[in-house]
Amino acid sequence: MLRPFRNKNLHFGFILLFAYFGYVTANHCNFNVKLKQVLKNQGFHRNISYGIVFNTDDDNCWLYKDCVVGLDQTLPHGVYANPDELSTLRRLKKLNAVPKTRINTEMPAEHSYPTTTYITERIKDCKVHVWLPVHARYHLATPGGGMARNTIGPPKLYLRCPDQRLDMCNKAATPVTFLCNGSSKEKCSWKELPYTLLTDTLVWNIPIGNMEHYHAISVGTALVIAIGSLYLIKAIHEHKLVTMPFNPYTSLHN
Ligand SMILES: *[C@@H]1O[C@H](CO)[C@@H](O)[C@H](O)[C@H]1NC(C)=O
Ligand SMILES: *[C@@H]1O[C@H](CO)[C@@H](O)[C@H](O)[C@H]1NC(C)=O
Repeated sequence: MLRPFRNKNLHFGFILLFAYFGYVTANHCNFNVKLKQVLKNQGFHRNISYGIVFNTDDDNCWLYKDCVVGLDQTLPHGVYANPDELSTLRRLKKLNAVPKTRINTEMPAEHSYPTTTYITERIKDCKVHVWLPVHARYHLATPGGGMARNTIGPPKLYLRCPDQRLDMCNKAATPVTFLCNGSSKEKCSWKELPYTLLTDTLVWNIPIGNMEHYHAISVGTALVIAIGSLYLIKAIHEHKLVTMPFNPYTSLHN
């Protein structure tokens, strides 16, 4: 009598367990992340702004409490983030962003490589808003000048929560280890999340110096110097001619 009853109990337990996993994977692992990436301001100094929303349904926001988003943004060789500026922003607690790769701020675009910056921010009410100050590198002048097209791709999005809350979600994704944030050397385990990009890929056209203007300026400068020099030589020569007969030394030597 006891045995079938036990089995039934066990079955019921399994059903509950499956239902629970089903519930968690069906409802909570569907992160449904949406990201907007916008390039603000004009000129050589701009601001990439990121708006990220987790789910659309506010009931699930408890799931992300104290979780942190990490963006991994690669910038093309014509654009850079200034490490000193990022360090100041971290100190002022305005923005937690840190270069992943070495960034040389002096190099022209032609001698630079793409660089990557991490940006981290805590999720609040299912939302995250971060930004990144970016600058255009100057381009070496070319014949005709024109514009250099810089395409800023979408960032990689990572998530990290303080406990094992989301471990059963996104199981296929292998955790990646990198800095917890820009303020400490400590490393954390992150999981990459897929998302829907709601905006177009950012394109920043940066003006290039025109070499023909350069040539015009150089030729002009050379002409002025040449004419000036000739005039000076002529003046010295005339002076010599004038002074020679009266100079006792030159007369003696001749
Ligand atoms: C960049 O834009 C954000 C808003 O999206 C703003 O909070 C921040 O102050 C801006 N930074 C600069 C340097 O303009
Ligand atoms: C950065 O991460 C460390 C390690 O997890 C943590 O102790 C510190 O509070 C974090 N700092 C900020 C500004 O988030």
